[in-house]
Amino acid sequence: MQNIVILGTGGTIAGAAARPDDSIGYQAGSVGVQALVAAVPALAGRSLESEQLAQLDSKDMDAATWRRLAERAATHLARPEVAGVVVTHGTDTLEETAWFLHRVLAPTKPLVLTAAMRPATALSADGPQNLLDAVTLAAEPGAAGVLVALAGQVHAAGDLRKLHSTRVDAFSSGDAGPVALLQAGRVRPLRPWPQATAWAGVLPAAEAWPWVAVLANHAGADGREVRALVQAGVHGLVVAGTGNGTVSQGLQAALREAQAAGVLVRRSSRCALGPVLDGPDGPAPGALPSAGERTPWQARVDLLLELTLSRSSA
Ligand code: SIN
Repeated sequence: MQNIVILGTGGTIAGAAARPDDSIGYQAGSVGVQALVAAVPALAGRSLESEQLAQLDSKDMDAATWRRLAERAATHLARPEVAGVVVTHGTDTLEETAWFLHRVLAPTKPLVLTAAMRPATALSADGPQNLLDAVTLAAEPGAAGVLVALAGQVHAAGDLRKLHSTRVDAFSSGDAGPVALLQAGRVRPLRPWPQATAWAGVLPAAEAWPWVAVLANHAGADGREVRALVQAGVHGLVVAGTGNGTVSQGLQAALREAQAAGVLVRRSSRCALGPVLDGPDGPAPGALPSAGERTPWQARVDLLLELTLSRSSA
């Protein structure tokens, strides 16, 4: 069981700029997945298959692509001769795709996402090392779950946060810390591989996905956008609250109205790190439901799946 399948979806790792010293003004999703593999001499002779699943900037990642990605990853992971699957992806929505795959697949083999902060044409591109590390991790005996290999660290999907707009080590696992390190071509595990409870079968037709919006609390937030979204037919709302998931009185009132109108609401935090915690006696009476450890973007994925599940069982 040695084969590794690499699914290309685009991103900066596949980006191309007009000049090698330009790491900003490039076109993401320009270089094909076979060329990305060919650019890593250490991958020559490895038993690899590659497939161009999409070629886009991850800001344009959509329900149809997520669905196809989950289906192709599941198909390859089910093959006995495949040890693991690698997905090349953009960094901008990496934490959303990783969490989505974690929830719907819960793989027992490694499904490793990787990306880059500099385009493939950059003087010192980070993509080739990240891709090599991802393949190493996908072939690691005993590794399991949706993992993200970047800048020498391995993150569990649920812990991943993009913290910096341009640095090569842009990602963190926050309070949990990385699951493993990738050093000198070896995987150094630091804690157990992530376990997942799959929402198996929760893959609606792409055009049928519920509408879940993310909005934030801020000074002067009065809830007008909540009322506009409810009026427009939104199905779910995630509010990125201040601090420990708090919201202004005006926003709270509008979110309660949304709940009363049948909209699912979750309260997360706009802070870069840290969960939303309840007090020692549990949630305060009447509190809006908390998203706990989930970032606003991951909470949005959970609401998408929850709404889909409730529709399919209705
Ligand atoms: C993208 O997310 O596709 C572009 C940005 C990046 O990969 O860093």
